[in-house]
Amino acid sequence: MCGIIGYIGKQKAAPVILEGLKRLEYRGYDSAGVATLYDGHFDTAKKAGRVDGLIKATKAQKLPGTTGIGHTRWATHGGVTDTNAHPHISNDGKIALIHNGVIENYVGIKKFLTGKGYTFTSETDTEVLCNLIDYHYQKEPVTKEGSRFLEAVRKTLRHVEGTYGIAVMCADCPAEIVAARKGSPLILGVGDGEYMLASDVAAIISRTQNVVYLKDGEMVHMTAKNFTITTLEAEDVSPVIDTVSWNIEDAELNGYAHFMEKEIFEQPAALENTMRGRFSEDGSTAQFGGLNISAADFRQIDRFHFLACGSAWHACLVAEHLIERFARVPVEVDYASEFRYRNTPLDRSTLFFTVSQSGETIDTLAAMREAKRKGYKVLAINNVVGSTIAREADGGVYQHVGPEIGVASTKAFTSQLLLGAMLALYIGRMRDMSFSDGVDYVNALKSAPQLVRQVLEQAPKIREIAKRYAHYHDFLFLGRLSLFPVALEGALKLKEISYIHAEGYPAAEMKHGPIALISEQCPSLFLVPAGEMFNKVVSSMQEIKARKGKIIAVLSTGCELPAGLADDVIHIPECHEAVLPIIATVPVQLLSYYITVELGRDVDKPRNLAKSVTVE
Ligand code: AGP
Repeated sequence: MCGIIGYIGKQKAAPVILEGLKRLEYRGYDSAGVATLYDGHFDTAKKAGRVDGLIKATKAQKLPGTTGIGHTRWATHGGVTDTNAHPHISNDGKIALIHNGVIENYVGIKKFLTGKGYTFTSETDTEVLCNLIDYHYQKEPVTKEGSRFLEAVRKTLRHVEGTYGIAVMCADCPAEIVAARKGSPLILGVGDGEYMLASDVAAIISRTQNVVYLKDGEMVHMTAKNFTITTLEAEDVSPVIDTVSWNIEDAELNGYAHFMEKEIFEQPAALENTMRGRFSEDGSTAQFGGLNISAADFRQIDRFHFLACGSAWHACLVAEHLIERFARVPVEVDYASEFRYRNTPLDRSTLFFTVSQSGETIDTLAAMREAKRKGYKVLAINNVVGSTIAREADGGVYQHVGPEIGVASTKAFTSQLLLGAMLALYIGRMRDMSFSDGVDYVNALKSAPQLVRQVLEQAPKIREIAKRYAHYHDFLFLGRLSLFPVALEGALKLKEISYIHAEGYPAAEMKHGPIALISEQCPSLFLVPAGEMFNKVVSSMQEIKARKGKIIAVLSTGCELPAGLADDVIHIPECHEAVLPIIATVPVQLLSYYITVELGRDVDKPRNLAKSVTVE
């Protein structure tokens, strides 16, 4: 999704903005641009392609202004071209603007402005915004320049339908930026004699850890000396300055080849951070600080309903299995994008959870709003403090795994698995789970980081296996019960970063169609844990082997497969059911990562993808 950054301060804005754009690359984009304001005019550079290309292009260009805005564009309206890249400038050169979101009524606005003599050079919805601001700016009475500019933006936004996170400069107003948000994230960074705007903290963390999380419907007017926040209705808002808990090192590679590699290997520490302070003194259950719902009310819940997208949805499927297994309460899991429109009949004693690493996924946000509109409480599991979903939920649990920069979710996913397991414990122990079972369960969760370390030690072996499977064009991932969602996650990991077609299935489902795909050209990865399903999964493997399908087995240590059944084996330590999905995930993450590296693909910024999908 698009990335936004703005800067006002004592330094030249361009270097700050270009560094910020580099840190926003992980959000996913296809073009980038920067504009600075100096001596009553804008100096602008914008290009399709990577930020490095933009940086190269600006080397030959003077960008002297100390006020500037920058943008990485994830195309919605209009192709990937230099012209469609942001910033956009109004016809008379007075207004420069960047935008994250979708202006749903841009066609009508464009028609109105065309009738007023405005012309357009791009195919974007965004360009109508800067010309409409200019239209209002020309009509605003000339009072204090800043307020004329601010009121022109305010008037414009009152005509806009859709979503936006915008930052705007006016050529008549040096050292001023107006910004606003509705449905797209925007934060204000309060630095030492400088102010910044950004889509997320990663863009500005190198300059400040003091941020204000803007809310939907709020506008900010930044100058070189201060900032004020108002609502679209011009009501004053008292800003709350938060301090970000992580720092620039967390957003650096620190010697790893890719953020995805770093975040896979960070998982033991991430799991420890997720659990920290969240077990009861007697060690028999979990405890959460921010649920904002009493244990008594929790006990009255007859059904849990999870809403999420992508990997987070896979984590919900595992939570469903564990809550039903250990707490004996029915759980429903919905794709957030489907729930919004399905209008499913609901039981009044339902408690909703959203799961979202970014806390900004528009489908999950909209699904949460739909559930709240119907009077249901919604708790949020997410990783970004101050994110929109976190702020609009009735309560929730932060994952505390630090920034996840790689587009492919890894440490955030296993952290979500852990929190799902902790929820199952929490609910189970307020119902029928015994004290001793609770203690065993807690000890199992506490062992997860060390068990993950054991699997990570096999990385070199998994890399060798990956080299042997990197040239295939199709892959099946197969697992049962709580490992079926892990099979789905493995397939998603592989397809989203290597572009190899991969599908996840319940292992027994092979017989109902997918087995037609099996040949020597379509390998399968089976998740084969010790336990009641072991022999059943082995039977499915034999059906594949009988049709010459290659097999990678993720196998519990201590289990033995018939000779020759698996072509390659990755061992995982035997463990409690509650942590099995976490442990079984690590091999499929590593396999996908190393296959992608082998193919030389862009691991952290795969084509067409964004870290946080903030458009429908
Ligand atoms: C997972 O690797 C993908 N990046 C994607 O499916 C992601 O999980 C999904 O977009 C949900 O994102 P969220 O957790 O930030 O809501």
